[in-house]
Amino acid sequence: MPLPTIEWEGDINGRIRLIDQTLLPTELKFVYCEDLKSIWHAIKTLMVRGAPAIGIAGAMGVVLGIKEIQVKDADTFLKELKHVTTYLGSSRPTAVNLFWGLARMERVAQENKNKSVQEIKEALLQEALKIQNEDKVICRQIGENGADFIKDGSGILTHCNAGGLATADYGTALAVLFKAKEQGKHIKVYADETRPLLQGSRLTAWELMHAGIDVTLICDNMAAHVMKLRKVQCVIVGADRIAANGDTANKIGTYSVSIMAKEHGIPFYVAAPVSTFDLSIKSGNDIPIEERSPEEVTHGFGKRTAPEGVNVFNPAFDVTPAKNITAIITEKGVIKHPSIENIQRLLGKHIHRTT
Ligand code: MRU
Repeated sequence: MPLPTIEWEGDINGRIRLIDQTLLPTELKFVYCEDLKSIWHAIKTLMVRGAPAIGIAGAMGVVLGIKEIQVKDADTFLKELKHVTTYLGSSRPTAVNLFWGLARMERVAQENKNKSVQEIKEALLQEALKIQNEDKVICRQIGENGADFIKDGSGILTHCNAGGLATADYGTALAVLFKAKEQGKHIKVYADETRPLLQGSRLTAWELMHAGIDVTLICDNMAAHVMKLRKVQCVIVGADRIAANGDTANKIGTYSVSIMAKEHGIPFYVAAPVSTFDLSIKSGNDIPIEERSPEEVTHGFGKRTAPEGVNVFNPAFDVTPAKNITAIITEKGVIKHPSIENIQRLLGKHIHRTT
């Protein structure tokens, strides 16, 4: 059953319904966002998370934001819309899908600026729904394009959550595994728990178990040992932003997994939609890395696990250099040995810029 990660309910005056991912795996509960501030908060606090899902949340968030704009002329509306997109863009900096989604919404408003404000609002709702529906198709295509890399009987390591919860409903990295299973392959997945917020154990293990996929949970610091024991034959992860040269930002810890995979001669795959590429950024050095609150590290899930007053560094993402990536699997095809040339060769006219 596909996961209803994020849905729009009603017409232009409607609301967003999303699975509160902070409560999983113990509680599967929907929350409703009726206004701009509540969806900003949902993105910031990771109730909705994962690059493509944040892109959809941003686009739907725009529709919530424009409910509050009560002006009659299109020019003033467009100025107010810019405030809405800027505000939503301040929620999380790393996943480029958020900025891609917001840019798409702005573009649609511009294209419709000769229409009435009501008509522009309708066009924006339709665009947000289109982004969501496209993501469903894209994820399935990523699954198709990647499944050949998964051999029958193999073990696969994944980090963080790049499943249905991180997209409209089917995932990117996990889409490849779902597809491999649909093809009748027997696979065994090792899920890194993914400190500090445990997206691997709370979300990936939960999703895979529900899909009937054999999953084994490990702590992040066990991955090298698992590789040495030859329990995994490849690694597959998602991405939050891919620079023009293929350097890839993903959940903190992904970089170390790539180094371990290289050391053990294990292929390292990234699965991501074209909307995760940011070709305005030359290399991973320019990708903004979100830093989150120290309490996520010192207080785990409620209990203090570090001395009071200790210094904490809590980057939410890191960058895996392109040289550590065997291939990037997209909906348009596979980019082997990612480099500027190989990326441009595949993406060609699909290239987008956020700036
Ligand atoms: O902080 P999160 O949970 O939003 O981080 C998510 C990840 O790093 C995912 O791997 C990435 O967004 C790809 S999701 C298809």
